Amino acid sequence: MALITFSSLMHKDKTVYAVAGSRTQTVLSLAKEHHIPIDFGCGDGECGTCLVKVSSVDAKRSPMGGQLTEREIKVLRELGHISQAQIDKMYVDDLCPTQWRLACQMIVRDEDILVEYPSK
Ligand code: FES
Repeated sequence: MALITFSSLMHKDKTVYAVAGSRTQTVLSLAKEHHIPIDFGCGDGECGTCLVKVSSVDAKRSPMGGQLTEREIKVLRELGHISQAQIDKMYVDDLCPTQWRLACQMIVRDEDILVEYPSK
C-alpha cells in the first residue's frame, strides 16, 4: 500500500491510498477516482496536459517512479523538461531522471510520493 499525496496551490492537499503492484493504475486514474482535479487531455501520453511534478515524501528515497515511458520522453523533450543527457543516464542507472511526469503514463508503485499539479 502506498500513500499518494496530491498537492496544488488552489486545493487542499489530499492523501489517498494506492494499491501497490497493480501495474496498471496510473497517477491520473487514481486522481480521477478520488476527484482530484488534475487537468488532462488525450489520456494517452501525447498532449502533455497532465504534466505533474513527483517527489518523494521520504528524502532518502528519490528520485521516484520507474523509468519514463517512450511517450513521456517524447512529450517531456518537446516541453523542454528533460535533456538527452538525462535520458541517457536513465538507461544506465535504471532510475527516473526527472521529477516531471505525465500523470496518465506514470504507474503507481509501492512508494509514498507527493504529486504536485497545476492549479486551475
Ligand atoms: S493526458 Fe495527454 S499526455 Fe496525459
